[in-house]
Amino acid sequence: MSEIILGIESSCDDTSAAVLQDRVLLSNVIASQQVHKDYGGVVPELASRAHELNIVPVVSEALNRAGVKPSELSAIAFTRGPGLLGSLLVGTSFAKALSISLNCPMVEVNHLQGHVLAGFVRQKDVPVREPEFPFLCLLVSGGNSQIVKVNDPLHFEILGQTIDDAVGEAFDKCSKMMGLGYPGGPVIDRLAKLGNPERFKFAKPRVPGLDYSFSGIKTSLLYFVRDEMAVDPGFMENNKEDICASFQKALIDILMDKLVKAAKQTGINRIAIGGGVSANSGLRNRITEEGRRRGWETFLPEFKFTTDNAAMIAIAGHFHYLAGERCPLDAAPYSRAADSLIR
Ligand code: KG4
Repeated sequence: MSEIILGIESSCDDTSAAVLQDRVLLSNVIASQQVHKDYGGVVPELASRAHELNIVPVVSEALNRAGVKPSELSAIAFTRGPGLLGSLLVGTSFAKALSISLNCPMVEVNHLQGHVLAGFVRQKDVPVREPEFPFLCLLVSGGNSQIVKVNDPLHFEILGQTIDDAVGEAFDKCSKMMGLGYPGGPVIDRLAKLGNPERFKFAKPRVPGLDYSFSGIKTSLLYFVRDEMAVDPGFMENNKEDICASFQKALIDILMDKLVKAAKQTGINRIAIGGGVSANSGLRNRITEEGRRRGWETFLPEFKFTTDNAAMIAIAGHFHYLAGERCPLDAAPYSRAADSLIR
């Protein structure tokens, strides 16, 4: 019998719902919140309120586009954490109410696991290309930078992670401080394409093992720009393409060094990337090139599955559902990765 999963994602500033039938995507609706634009970052209270307004129309639209009736759902998969508590509460409460009203089971999904498994969403008329297990995933988003060993869809090992800022945070904070706008990743990515990545050099952090650090490079960029501006007030405006290209290259070098090390240490040459920063064109090119040189099999998610979306929550939910996992109605959302299922 066919299995139909509704996925619900509300961990940050995107309200999303998706419907998956036997792993094939029928719909994926995302309402991106615009209310944060003036603030240079996500305002948690405004995010919760926007989720409340969006959740009913977004879920209805996802079911309509999929041509699926609520009564046909096999399970409701929702993001339980990590993320903003108020935002998560909206998706979690909605999933519970729907579960009770339809008498349909719920499965909880860890948002990070969703990013890692995004590449397993299948689409009509798109050839299936999925990594065999185990594979390594470079998980890079606004809140996380991790190298994850994926043993199977439900068993992950974190080989390394950031000890301070996430790489997406470095993109966002630096862009904001340089007056380039929010979110910073896409802006820096666009400007970097026009600049010379070799023009400016930034010191690499020295962190043992497979862990990352991005707070030092963030600070050194900000001091560098401030010092140059003290001499030439037009420095930023006249050199922003080269600054962005050099800064982006430095971030990618840091990410790649540890990824190469992880591949060598584990002997695993199937390499995937996931999370919002995996949309970065410089990182995508570099992984592809490095893969060609080192004989890696590389897996890059389609752009629409890089940032927050419910399709990835539905596919992760599919694996939990198949494993017989069900979420009780008293499950509360959790905000921190430390409380999450991936440890
Ligand atoms: O996965 P995501 O949508 O949300 C989190 O769970 O964090 O990731 C958002 C992050 C932001 O930091 C944003 O600047 C970054 O992904 N991002 C990018 C690009 N597109 C989004 N970073 C670099 N280059 C991009 N093209």
